[in-house]
Amino acid sequence: MKTMLTIVSTKKKPSLEDIKRAKEISKALNLPYFKRGKLTIEKLFKKVKEIFKTDKVRLLLVENLNLKLITPNKKELFFHPGLLKIRFLNILKKEKQNIDSNDDLFYKVLDLKEGDLVLDCNLGLCQDALLCAYKTKNTVIGLEIDKVIALVVRDGLKKYNFTGKMKIFNKLKENLYTICIDNKKYLETAKDNSFDVVYFSPMFINPKWECSQMMPLREIAIKSFPDKETLENAKRVARKRVVIKINKGAHELFDYLNDFEIVKAQTRLEYLVWKKK
Ligand SMILES: C[S@@+](CC[C@H](N)C(=O)[O-])C[C@H]1O[C@@H](n2cnc3c(N)ncnc32)[C@H](O)[C@@H]1O
Repeated sequence: MKTMLTIVSTKKKPSLEDIKRAKEISKALNLPYFKRGKLTIEKLFKKVKEIFKTDKVRLLLVENLNLKLITPNKKELFFHPGLLKIRFLNILKKEKQNIDSNDDLFYKVLDLKEGDLVLDCNLGLCQDALLCAYKTKNTVIGLEIDKVIALVVRDGLKKYNFTGKMKIFNKLKENLYTICIDNKKYLETAKDNSFDVVYFSPMFINPKWECSQMMPLREIAIKSFPDKETLENAKRVARKRVVIKINKGAHELFDYLNDFEIVKAQTRLEYLVWKKK
């Protein structure tokens, strides 16, 4: 697969701080810096494509010191609570009614307890990881293969001020520890039984619906599914469970998932669950 070129630039009429930050990121991530000048985003993309002779370009934009990743289709990726808010408010509602929050399917399949240590192998926008942090009150280790997505989301989450019923995440986000690495590589060297739950949420495979929240990620993220060896390592590393979130039916595409139980959701997804004996 041809890799995507990421250019670092700033908003129009940037401050000196914006320019400094953009140049620092360009150096740290080894990505080309492009002076914005008066160019519109459209013209900036056009120019970059001509100079670098590629159509696959995304833009890491520094704007008032905040980071935004602009996809080739000009969609914007940055941290936002998105669906996390709806999911969390539902969990709170159940807690208020004295219903065990493990009644929520996500918690049920992960079977989380306070103090559990979770390895989230597909950190993405951190929504699942934050829900894990809420339940376990413990550190969550999140793996993200894409260094630009990792930086944009980590920076955005750090600055994001949760309000109202979500306020608790201002504290919980400190429990999230991001490592920018391919989960396959990480699991190869991780110690036996070093996490309670190892969780995967790869990009859905040919989903028949569009989720606006995930659109920017869909466009630019690597769409790899954990291979047999990675899952064998995940089972070795997990003390209790390995869970994979997929779109319904996607398990049929792989012949090495027989020892995973399929748990169907009411929505268009399902979970594959493997329990350690
Ligand atoms: C569907 S998103 C995960 C969404 C996430 N669970 C959330 O709650 O926001 C999949 C993410 O996994 C990342 N990814 C894909 N392959 C990976 C790999 N081999 N190792 C680590 N991260 C990977 C992608 O870059 C993308 O950010």
